[in-house]
Amino acid sequence: MALHAAVTLVRESEIPLTAQIQRFLKKEVTEGTLHPGTRLPSSRRLADDLGVSRSVVVEAYGQLVAEGYLEAVQGAGTRVVRHLDRAVPGPPVPSLLDDGHAGRRDPAVRWDLRPGGGNVPDFPRREWLAAYQRALHAADPAALDYPPLAGDPRLRVELARYLGRMCGVRSTPAQVMVTAGFAQALGLLAAVLPGLGTTALGIENPGHPGQRRFVHESGLRSLPLPVDGEGLDVAALAASGARAVLVTPAHQFPTGAPLSARRREALVRWARDVDGLIIEDDYDRGLWYERGASRPLALQRLAPDHVVYAGTVSKTLAPGLRLGWLAAPAPLLERLRRARARQDLGTDVLTQLAFAEFLRGGAYDRHLRRLNALCRTRHDALREAVRRHLPGAAVAGPAAGLHAYVTLPRHTDEAALVAGALRRSVLLCGAASHHARPGEGAPALVVGHAHLPRSGAEQAVRELAAVLSGR
Ligand SMILES: Cc1ncc(COP(=O)(O)O)c(C=O)c1O
Repeated sequence: MALHAAVTLVRESEIPLTAQIQRFLKKEVTEGTLHPGTRLPSSRRLADDLGVSRSVVVEAYGQLVAEGYLEAVQGAGTRVVRHLDRAVPGPPVPSLLDDGHAGRRDPAVRWDLRPGGGNVPDFPRREWLAAYQRALHAADPAALDYPPLAGDPRLRVELARYLGRMCGVRSTPAQVMVTAGFAQALGLLAAVLPGLGTTALGIENPGHPGQRRFVHESGLRSLPLPVDGEGLDVAALAASGARAVLVTPAHQFPTGAPLSARRREALVRWARDVDGLIIEDDYDRGLWYERGASRPLALQRLAPDHVVYAGTVSKTLAPGLRLGWLAAPAPLLERLRRARARQDLGTDVLTQLAFAEFLRGGAYDRHLRRLNALCRTRHDALREAVRRHLPGAAVAGPAAGLHAYVTLPRHTDEAALVAGALRRSVLLCGAASHHARPGEGAPALVVGHAHLPRSGAEQAVRELAAVLSGR
């Protein structure tokens, strides 16, 4: 039954039928059941459904239009007005990994240099559509049934191939699980770790603020571990007593430092010694454009029995696809599957099949080549602008991913720079929010550069120089 049919008219009431209809609709609009822009039934249909003459409804609609609740749109009937002053809606629900910076670009500022979000403007719409269409044409009715919890087998085959050739992950399709991004992989792991006797998780400090909060809220004790130019401090991990750690070894978030070869070995040794688990967050694999140095292979290949490798398309395609994957040691998989059965019933199957097509036909490789070339241009522009206009500052780490870590001269007041930049319409993200405790760490900025036009980096950095020099 549609809502309008729920109008209960009292025919022998003193209140005219027109007023009764009017009151009902007004209440449903003000209480928010009928949303702005909702199309109402035609006066003829509503009159038929309610068993009243059409003129009664026409008059009720007319009154509500006059009072500003409804609008009559030429050729589109009557609908609830689009801009109704109503109670302010509640705050948006933050995403699992919301770091308070990521997400929509702020159109009110001239330069939004915050990290987060994806490379959405460069999303390969045509190629994705072609892959999606091919996948849809090929999908038989069975393919549109509930997908296997671990993901569609065709995508898992393509992922195992891709992960092997791209970053040396040692896995079989049976060890791969398709997830709703890294966020779900982390959620599943947080759910199974206590069952393995692990209630504390080592996390990098600085690290992703949203992940830190998520780990904390999922009931695990998070143990912040220092990071330096060689990545995670493995000695501190060993001293912490943790038996599980979340790490970004290829491109530490946010400092950019790859985990050095000796630290990689030490980390794997630690995992074997304590029978521990390493969660490898390879969040921006595929985006590496440093000249003359190749991206380190996956840590997982050094100890497949102790590492859960996890990746995502959030940086390379779009976070909105909610598509990621993990490769886990076989004994862990059944636990992860059971945890998943309590969360959802699998990932959107057409998106999975489209991505399988995308991988199989080489479209993903071609897209990554284009994207890396673009990112390199933007990163080069940022590095050059920092070198030219911010004496004592530098872009740290290799050219990779969608963000750069800009270290500032020691004496810089990071908070004052962020506030001063905002006054000049530049939105910045200071490194402070990535640290576990206030006041930790040297001043730095975490700069998202992937969406900037080439000249944007230069202009935005000039503004920062003006703030620093007190102009
Ligand atoms: C460190 C890190 N890990 C993982 C992700 C990706 O998460 P998801 O795949 O859930 O979008 C991000 C995205 O911002 C990130 O910064």
